[in-house]
Amino acid sequence: MNNRPSSLVSPNSNVIQYPQFNDLYNCILKCQELTRLSGEANCMALEGCTGAGKTTLAATFASAFNRYETESGTKIPVFYVETPAPVTVKGMAARMLEAMGDPIAHRGALWAMNSRLICFIKACEVELVILDDIHHLIEHNRVLADVSNWLKVLIKETNVPFLIVGQEEMVELILNANAQLSRLFAERRTLQPFEWSAPDGRKEFAAFIQFALLNLRVQLDETVKVGEMMSRLHYATDGVVANMMNLLYSSALLAKEENGDKLRLPLLSRAFDARLARHLPHKSNPFKLSGQETFQPPATNGLILRAEARQGTADLPHSVSNRSRARKKSQPKASDVLTKN
Ligand SMILES: Nc1ncnc2c1ncn2[C@@H]1O[C@H](COP(=O)(O)OP(=O)(O)OP(=O)(O)O)[C@@H](O)[C@H]1O
Ligand SMILES: [Mg+2]
Repeated sequence: MNNRPSSLVSPNSNVIQYPQFNDLYNCILKCQELTRLSGEANCMALEGCTGAGKTTLAATFASAFNRYETESGTKIPVFYVETPAPVTVKGMAARMLEAMGDPIAHRGALWAMNSRLICFIKACEVELVILDDIHHLIEHNRVLADVSNWLKVLIKETNVPFLIVGQEEMVELILNANAQLSRLFAERRTLQPFEWSAPDGRKEFAAFIQFALLNLRVQLDETVKVGEMMSRLHYATDGVVANMMNLLYSSALLAKEENGDKLRLPLLSRAFDARLARHLPHKSNPFKLSGQETFQPPATNGLILRAEARQGTADLPHSVSNRSRARKKSQPKASDVLTKN
């Protein structure tokens, strides 16, 4: 199989290829290459918070290697499966068989299912198995050892690399429950939200936003400095891709409803209240300030926040306590961010 797709993503796709996305994508390719080179499955674990973009990355990778038919049967170069919730090990084996096209996917004992699965993975010439939301397996199976042993057997018997994707720290739990399994997962990565504390992170965040705006055919309010707007967007979304897209999609829709293409502050403010405020209840709405003010991210430390809440000053950018004023001096300034092209 030619392992490199002609382009990272389809030109019509809304998936944005940012540096971390490309880095992780290449990392998956490298695991496949190392497997061919060493003759042993080189597996990868990908963790991240909810909405970081893990599924998008894994599904984008899989979609570049579609299954195809040959005279000797179906070939599945990259076999992507979402873990249902809740699920037992046996339920997961059945789910995988079903996704492979086994007409009797749910029949038989676990050992029989496993042996059919191993047989199909080999026959379909699978070169990578992606198991998304793997943490669902341990939410249901208290016995971690069963899950990790099942995975180890599948990997060892097929000699195919696995990419397992899940919530932060949960994936590690599975891997650490079995030393032989742990050894096979030399590559362990986390898909991080965009950073604001480092200049490169701020630039990458701003570049992602500009790309998304281009895709959505909308623009930011030009009366607010770009750096100032980015600072507010980052605070509002925590740099988590799902939150960023959620805010941008909904404010773009609001703009279109008003026959416009400018994401002005009142519009972003409405979108934040409607789409993010309940998901991120500790946040104040940064778009309520006028465009001339400099937004100061309020305190994020839960304990301090609670103490300030009792004093009636929690999370309010306008009413900054002396303590949080001192803390805010270390926050990057909005002017540190990209200037507009
Ligand atoms: N590279 C990207 N380009 C554009 N949008 C993206 C990208 N990655 C993620 N998104 C957006 O973020 C949303 C959530 O992403 P995704 O489902 O991949 O997150 P996740 O890390 O798998 O979350 P969970 O842990 O809850 O499953 C997607 O529906 C999509 O709108
Ligand atoms: Mg996901």
